[in-house]
This record gives sequence, C-alpha cells and structure tokens, in this order.
Amino acid sequence: MKTKLSVNINKVALIRNARGEGRPDLLQFALDCETFGADGITVHPRPDERHVRYDDIPVLKSAVKTELNIEGNPNQRFLDMVLKHRPHQCTLVPDAADALTSNQGWDTITYAGFLTDVITDLKKAGIRVSIFIDDDAAKIEGAAKVGADRIEFYTGPYAQNFKKDRFQAISPYVQAAEVVRSLGLGMNAGHDLDLENLSFLVQQIPDIDEVSIGHALISDALYYGIHNTIQMYQNQL
Ligand code: PXP
Repeated sequence: MKTKLSVNINKVALIRNARGEGRPDLLQFALDCETFGADGITVHPRPDERHVRYDDIPVLKSAVKTELNIEGNPNQRFLDMVLKHRPHQCTLVPDAADALTSNQGWDTITYAGFLTDVITDLKKAGIRVSIFIDDDAAKIEGAAKVGADRIEFYTGPYAQNFKKDRFQAISPYVQAAEVVRSLGLGMNAGHDLDLENLSFLVQQIPDIDEVSIGHALISDALYYGIHNTIQMYQNQL
C-alpha cells in the first residue's frame, strides 16, 4: 500500500485570515487539492484560531470527499467540536496554547488516564485516533495501552538531522517503527517533511500509512502551483 498524502491547509487559512475575508477560498482550495491528487486534508485549529477557524470545520467536513484529519490538543472545546463533526481521523497533539507549531510528542505514560478517556470517547463516535509521538519505544507502548489506532511520528528531529546525516537521522525511527508494527498500530508521520527528505523516509519505512504535510508543501506551491506541487510530493511517495 502506498503512503497516503494528507495536505495540511492551515497556511492557506493563515493567508485568508490576514485580510479577514474569503481569499483564498479555503474550501475550494481543499477540494482542488483532492482533485489534484491529495489523499486527504488535514487541519489544525489552534486555540487562537489564527489558521483554520472552528467555523471552517463543518464546511470542510461536509465537502471533503477523501479523508478529513483534525489535529489538536484535546481540551474540552476541541473535543466537543471533533465529536460534533466526526472527521475520519483525529490526531491528538500536546501543543501548548501559545505554541508556534507542534514540537513534541505525547508523554503517554504520565497522561495515560486522560488519554484513555479521550480516546475512548472519540472511538465510540467512530473516529480513528492517531497520537503524535516521538521515536521512543516506551511512549509508543503507552500509545497502544491508551487505545490509539495509530501513532504519528513527530518527524521534526528527522528533518533537522537529515541535513547532516540521513542514515543517522532515520535510524531511531526505523527502530521505533518495529515497535509500532509489533503492537499492531497504524503509522503516520508528520512535521517538517519536504521534497528533500520525504522519499528517503518512505524508502526506509515503506509501511507508513500517511504523511501530513503543510508548511513546505504550501511554500513550494508559491513557486510550482498547487497542482504541480501535489504531483511532486506524490511522486516522492
Ligand atoms: N503533524 C502535526 C501533528 C502538526 O502539528 C503539524 C503542523 O501543524 C504537521 C504534522 C505538519 O507539519 P508541517 O507544517 O511542518 O508540514
């Protein structure tokens, strides 16, 4: 099975919000991404709604034909929204309210009780649950214990180290992927993936189910256009 590409459209919403009106049209952009070959759409509504807003969610959910993945820190407001709109997948991320971007995975041991409750509710609503995680065997085992369907590897450190030594950069993830497989969890990956580091990641870990990519992909689209860019990323996969 080929690794799926979910396009994170937060940065498109950021541009729209700069003028407070509907340009670019976020929904049309999501639908065009699908037409151009994206396998899914990801949004990450942050508490200050500086990118995707909470009122974007029902509009996107009713129109996205592939898969909608909603990421975020499961505070009560986020959970109520996710349970109401029921995306295909919810990715739990432990980002602080004022975080510039997600910068670490969950501590699934310390937060085991909380995560078990949240994941139970989401799964009861028929939502697949993925949990953002570092390349750490104990945390991955913790993800299985709290009932996650999948983990999403935080690939920020991979992307950083890739520039120095790609084999060294991928090595902890290859080992961690073994743990994921042994537990029967699905495997996603995301953060700082780009046209340089993506193909090596999936060559080394071919059974990654899905990557979600935002910042680099939308930046590349400024030069190549979104249609070409999605094709370029799909070619890497
Ligand atoms: N996965 C998670 C959990 C994220 O928070 C983000 C950033 O919103 C991404 C993937 C995508 O990262 P990037 O924008 O660097 O591609």
